[in-house]
Amino acid sequence: MSDSFRFNHHFLTSLIIIITTLKSVHTITTTNTEFVKSSCTFTTYPRLCFASLSTQASLIQTSPKLMAHAALNITLASAKSTSAMMVRLSNSRFKPREVSAMRDCVEVLGDTLEELRKSIGEMCELSGSNYEVYMSDIQTWVSAALTYENTCMDGFQGDDMNGKVKVLVRRRILVIAQLTSNALALINHFASIHG
Ligand SMILES: *[C@@H]1O[C@H](CO)[C@@H](O)[C@H](O)[C@H]1NC(C)=O
Repeated sequence: MSDSFRFNHHFLTSLIIIITTLKSVHTITTTNTEFVKSSCTFTTYPRLCFASLSTQASLIQTSPKLMAHAALNITLASAKSTSAMMVRLSNSRFKPREVSAMRDCVEVLGDTLEELRKSIGEMCELSGSNYEVYMSDIQTWVSAALTYENTCMDGFQGDDMNGKVKVLVRRRILVIAQLTSNALALINHFASIHG
């Protein structure tokens, strides 16, 4: 066997191994992304669901539990950043009516964060023996979070409010409410297939 044949042979073998590996990595990635996409069809806002969760596909893999958990994580992160924004806004100069709506909103966002944190805590500890109790807690808390968010939006409705602030706040809270609704749908879906 000539050296050049040996070299080519090794080269080709390596190339085939590399291509096969890349193909299987690609297949897994596609499968994970497809799983996120199909799970999102159980939600009311599938496009927001996919946009917010497709980046987590490699973490979620094909687990309905991790999908629900990731949805809660994303909702918490979004609620946290909006809450921080509202705290900053509520310290700016606005009409008393606006300042008061903002303070109320900051307060209910705090409650929302609390409900989401508790839910994530039990989601992490969910197991066979506590399943029924924890799942029911999580469903209750996430529904409560959704109610709080709607309370905040209700405060930003009147015509006597600064249009820009009203639009900004309502838009941010709306996204959180939609993320929360999606998380709840994914939790309910996970619960339904778990039995
Ligand atoms: C949720 O967030 C926690 C804490 O940041 C992290 O450890 C966990 O991996 C996340 N889980 C999912 C499914 O995103």
